[in-house]
Amino acid sequence: MIYLDHNATSPLRPEAAAAVTRAGETGGNPSSVHAAGRAARAMVEEAREAVAKLAGSRAQDVIFTSGGTEANALALYGAVYGSLEAEARITRIFVSATEHPAVLANAAAIAERVAGVRMAEIPVTADCIVDVEALRVMLREGKGRTLVCVMAANNETGVVQPLDQIAKHVRDAGALLLVDAVQAAGKIPLAFDADYLVMSGHKIGALEGVGALVVKEGAPLSPLIAGGGQERGKRGGTQNLAGIASFGAAASAAATLGDMPRQTAFRDHFDSEVMRRWPQTVVFGAKAPRLGNTSNFAIPGVAAETALMALDLDGICVSSGAACSSGKVRASHVLTAMGVPEDLAGSALRVSFGWNSRDTDADAMLASLDKLVSRVHDRVQPGHPPRAAA
Ligand SMILES: Cc1ncc(COP(=O)(O)O)c(C=O)c1O
Repeated sequence: MIYLDHNATSPLRPEAAAAVTRAGETGGNPSSVHAAGRAARAMVEEAREAVAKLAGSRAQDVIFTSGGTEANALALYGAVYGSLEAEARITRIFVSATEHPAVLANAAAIAERVAGVRMAEIPVTADCIVDVEALRVMLREGKGRTLVCVMAANNETGVVQPLDQIAKHVRDAGALLLVDAVQAAGKIPLAFDADYLVMSGHKIGALEGVGALVVKEGAPLSPLIAGGGQERGKRGGTQNLAGIASFGAAASAAATLGDMPRQTAFRDHFDSEVMRRWPQTVVFGAKAPRLGNTSNFAIPGVAAETALMALDLDGICVSSGAACSSGKVRASHVLTAMGVPEDLAGSALRVSFGWNSRDTDADAMLASLDKLVSRVHDRVQPGHPPRAAA
């Protein structure tokens, strides 16, 4: 199998698997005072240090959650409800149009359910970059404390946002900033001036079902889940020891970003070959700064659904840029926000390299695409010579 879908989930790293085994042997509840509990607690705190290091934060600001979705929900609901107590109510949530549904859907639900809170979308350019000037104007107009949500890097295109500029406007306006760094973690440095920073374990080679919210000191946060006082009272429930231990180990392994030049070389080779073989290919966000592991591209006339099936038959795992719900294939909201026409968006495929990618993977995918494109062109124009050059 050739796995090129690390932005969906990155397989368990050996370091993380070893941590899971150690956690299993511990046998204690991190809240228990006996020796087994203390050993479990030590594992959680060791992982907290490692995750904090990856986030560039203090360990005491890290709250473990069940994943990136919960961490985003905790930040959004927690900030809004927490700001009621702080008496500087958040009344506006500005969300970039290309955020993950974990942010978009929770922000929309809050605007629907919490009286006096409204949500607005920040537009993006054709390159998937947040329109910073539009945000500046939005912040200046109207009244009310604002929570601004901009992801560090987009999961579909890999485009990296200009968070330094964005954070400056947010500070000038006295607003709060939530940065979803789920895709950026372990791929670029996370030196952001964020009030809330979100990470997810399984995107960096830990188990699924664990994530973290990093909250800057002084930022409002009301817990979503009350319980036994775990995570300094910000997230009740016995901690997911195996998940957290794996997250710590994966964070330590990913923190150096040491593998990124290798992954970037694979991606760059892939992009240039796709363009050389099928010059009509569009690589989305190619002109913007992008994560080194990600390419989202469309070969016009080659439907993503067909391509996914053909690649899968050849043992190659990638994603399409389209979302399928209730039997209907819809263009991705990210590509739509970038102004990509629906038919082109219907051809979008995402390739994402990762820690276990091999230097033959890109060429295997290209060979599989070669076969597919020739078949598609033959069907459109029977007898047409294959357009792909090997
Ligand atoms: C940018 C982004 N945010 C949040 C999430 C959700 O994270 P999790 O799968 O840990 O809930 C994802 C997962 O795809 C993501 O890509």
